[in-house]
Amino acid sequence: MANKYKTKVKKVETIGVLSSGGDAPGMNAAIRAVVRTALANGLKVKGINRGYSGLLEEDIMDMNAKSVADIIQRGGTMLYTARCPEFMTKEGQDKGAYICKKHGIDGLVVIGGDGSFQGAKKLAERGINTIALPGTIDLDIACTEYTIGFDTAVNTAMQAIDKVRDTSTSHERCSIIEVMGRHAGYIALWCGIANGAEDILLPEFYDNNEQQLIDNIIEKKKIGKKHHIIINAEGVGDSYGMAKRIEAATGVETRATIVGHIQRGGSPTAKDRVYASAMGAKAVELLCEGKSNRVVAYKNGKFVDFDIEEALKMEKLPDEFLVNMAKKLSR
Ligand code: ADP
Ligand code: F6P
Repeated sequence: MANKYKTKVKKVETIGVLSSGGDAPGMNAAIRAVVRTALANGLKVKGINRGYSGLLEEDIMDMNAKSVADIIQRGGTMLYTARCPEFMTKEGQDKGAYICKKHGIDGLVVIGGDGSFQGAKKLAERGINTIALPGTIDLDIACTEYTIGFDTAVNTAMQAIDKVRDTSTSHERCSIIEVMGRHAGYIALWCGIANGAEDILLPEFYDNNEQQLIDNIIEKKKIGKKHHIIINAEGVGDSYGMAKRIEAATGVETRATIVGHIQRGGSPTAKDRVYASAMGAKAVELLCEGKSNRVVAYKNGKFVDFDIEEALKMEKLPDEFLVNMAKKLSR
């Protein structure tokens, strides 16, 4: 028999969706999944342009199935994105919650990185049922083994690095290739392995021991290596300076290439389209179950969810096995 004292879950009627922080390929697939899953559940959907900035400016539009047609294959985010300093203030957050209520938005999906999650938490505290999706090419969200956009970004960088490697080999040069990751070395580590780099510099582990790099280049030259590829994460940086110093110390011609923002765009890979779709759909399911203040994650082969606050406290580092393996494979 049903428990008559069980508290009834307040039914969500209108779901808002926004993207915030750095964009990432696959965000469109997530938006599409949020909109169409919500519609399939009989809910209304409102798109909020330019993240929390658009929320505060009430840049809000009704969305239907057609609004998200022809976007799954596109990079970027159809809802645009922004960084919004005003939303870091209590007044901004109060205003954001007020505007959600004014527009009948009782459930919200925020797609972004950990900064955006902080904002999502603030809205949840103010009575807007809010679910966050990890959208960042950096893979630097500890509660999840997958973030929307990482797979595409790594593949984009890998292809660019293959090209640099060709010319590096022809000229028998050393090439330092800088990939994104201001605080996290996941893109660098994956490219380092996928591109067969001789050295990989990760902000989490690099000890500024340039002499070790120099010795390695000289040693590899002696054993007949035709190029020396160093993948450097943005968080370590100084690729141009490093190239000059290395060339002076080794006598090996050295060039620096910064892959840059091409890593943030482009048509998402199948993985990013499928996983981002699953995360978008899961976010709506959680809202329909009355959940709030949760982040959707991918862990041990399953799409799961965590409390945002707990997720923000978690920490992770690039897998030591992969880091050590990369060193051994670069002989
Ligand atoms: P990302 O989400 O990619 O980590 P940011 O760190 O730039 O990107 O955060 C995106 C936006 O999220 C910020 O511009 C701000 O509007 C909001 N935000 C970040 N930190 C907080 C915070 N502590 N409280 C409220 N909102 C925040
Ligand atoms: O999206 C994450 C990230 O790509 C970082 O790796 C990089 O440091 C940062 O965004 C750059 O962001 P922007 O160019 O938007 O300032």
